[in-house]
Amino acid sequence: MNFNKNFNNVADSYLFAEVANRVAAFTKANPDKKVIKLGIGDVTLPLVPEVIKAMHGAVDDMASQETFKGYGPYEGYGFLRESIQSYYKESGVELDLDEIFVSDGAKSDLGNILDIFSKDNVVLVPDPVYPVYVDTNLMAGRSVIFADATEENGFLPMPDYSVDADIIYICSPNNPTGAAYTKAQLKEWVDYANEKNAVILYDAAYECFVSDGELARSIFQVEGAKTCAIEFCSFSKIAGFTGTRCGYTVVPKALEKKGFNANKAWLRRQSTKFNGVPYVVQKGAAAVFTKQGMKEIKKNLSYYMKNAKVIADCMDSLGIWYTGGKNSPYIWLKCPQGMGSWEFFDYLLNNAQVVGTPGAGFGRNGEGYFRLTAFGSAEATKEAVQRIKKLLK
Ligand code: MLT
Repeated sequence: MNFNKNFNNVADSYLFAEVANRVAAFTKANPDKKVIKLGIGDVTLPLVPEVIKAMHGAVDDMASQETFKGYGPYEGYGFLRESIQSYYKESGVELDLDEIFVSDGAKSDLGNILDIFSKDNVVLVPDPVYPVYVDTNLMAGRSVIFADATEENGFLPMPDYSVDADIIYICSPNNPTGAAYTKAQLKEWVDYANEKNAVILYDAAYECFVSDGELARSIFQVEGAKTCAIEFCSFSKIAGFTGTRCGYTVVPKALEKKGFNANKAWLRRQSTKFNGVPYVVQKGAAAVFTKQGMKEIKKNLSYYMKNAKVIADCMDSLGIWYTGGKNSPYIWLKCPQGMGSWEFFDYLLNNAQVVGTPGAGFGRNGEGYFRLTAFGSAEATKEAVQRIKKLLK
């Protein structure tokens, strides 16, 4: 018997687990110090009333024989897929219902999707990037190559035709850098993928923060994407479902290579390994896209974007270089005084009790950078900023 030796190729702990361990050790040693966490991108506002109302109604449905639900459809209930379909329509994207698959979150699907790809595919991942893309591929034994995202290219690498990739990851607005592709830039990636016969795995978890009309909310706003892209989205960031768990993946029926249909394969995979998201959660998720739900959600999103501005203003006043904070809840900053990412992490934790995420945890090019999230409470964000100013001015 052998375990999967590929696990030797990933770091001992997942980035955010490592951050949590260090914070726990600090808190144990300094129980009197109040730590402010702006590290992991976890939301702090509760679910909006419209979502809660829908979930309560769904709980009542489960209490009566006439409305009780057992196993649901593998790809999600029609009522939720219809509301997702209408949401895409608002951005000019037409989807068939059977191209939408409801899941327990974008993170799960980003890992699970690899089941439908061959092990010998070459994977192209921007560096820095959300660690799930790299770790899941290393665990599966695939070779990963990197596209450099740097200050020089605005942390938005563009295709290089001298590189042959089979699977390409794009996250826009980007986690961790907050940088976002325009539709015109994405078109270049789509053309590259179609020419190279590659598939783009497009992480749109932060699309709800896009306010600039030039920027893409979905890769399917770009012509040609349906023959080369799969899109992953989430209710976590738009509607605070980090603990509730719900997301969706769009697999176009036109995505077919050598007679292998990705949509058909994904349904086959999901029906074999997944029994769907709870009915109560799906009812809550559908309420996000109602008129009232969206009104309430927009209020929450603007609350977080005010936090982003508070952090960005702080960086401006300290003369610290950063990107993000507009069209994104993340502020990606250059560590002051030439500090390394983990060095700055320890410095901030020990001297200001503010937690962020070290850029080096997102890749080699993240060394020397640091990520702060706007998902904290307004009070905590203001206090964190005051502490940072006092420490760094
Ligand atoms: C992050 O902090 O990068 C995100 O919260 C991670 C995630 O969404 O899984």
